[in-house]
Amino acid sequence: AAPPALPAPLAGRHVLVTSGPTQEPIDPVRYITNRSSGRQGHAIAAALAALGARVTLVSGPVALPDPPGVGMARIGTAREMLAACEAALPADAAVCAAAVADWRSAGMAPQKLKKVPGQPLPPLELALNPDILATLSAHPRRPRLVVGFAAETENVVANAVAKRQRKGCDWIVANDVSGDVFGGSRNAVHLVTAGGVEDWPDLPKEEVAAKLAARVAETLAGGAEA
Ligand code: CTP
Ligand code: CA
Repeated sequence: AAPPALPAPLAGRHVLVTSGPTQEPIDPVRYITNRSSGRQGHAIAAALAALGARVTLVSGPVALPDPPGVGMARIGTAREMLAACEAALPADAAVCAAAVADWRSAGMAPQKLKKVPGQPLPPLELALNPDILATLSAHPRRPRLVVGFAAETENVVANAVAKRQRKGCDWIVANDVSGDVFGGSRNAVHLVTAGGVEDWPDLPKEEVAAKLAARVAETLAGGAEA
């Protein structure tokens, strides 16, 4: 007879994942956004589901299929993303891979803004968006393990170490986006934890996702600190 199947490592766990960009409307036809294909975040959601987790994937608009076995929450703006994340709590872990627009237009124009030849551009007033990762890290129903990303173009590890402190999260996955990471299929990251910094080799985004999901499973299985 076949040996009894082992329970999946994340069976019974709920993990929240954010992915993709947000879109912040300026008027009915224009918006502010960030570069993000959603490939890394979607791959992480898929990898967590493959380990048996119940996954809620809160995603901005992306040109990707929904990962198999994942519960989708589709949002447009950062404020909608935050509301969807809070509505999904409680969760055992959260992985914030979304490229959230840091600013939104302070006032949404109800009609399309018209250009007037010869006139100076109308100033665009910006307001700061809520920080979803920092909010989850300080939340009364904080997931036990909170993981953020840091997209940096210089001083990657130093910026990520500082970002981990500032955001109050447990881990930061830092990547250098000065190359062609955006939309690409591979990613070379550094995992910044309380214990130090690990340099991971350049890997397909699916393998970065699988390695991270395995670490999440290991950490939630142990009673220890992240
Ligand atoms: N993040 C978030 N909400 C925001 C901005 C960022 O949840 N409003 C999350 C991202 O999903 C990522 C992490 O915070 O996990 C770091 O994002 P990043 O843009 O690198 O950091 P910022 O704090 O916005 O700093 P800056 O863009 O100035 O480097
Ligand atoms: Ca930012």
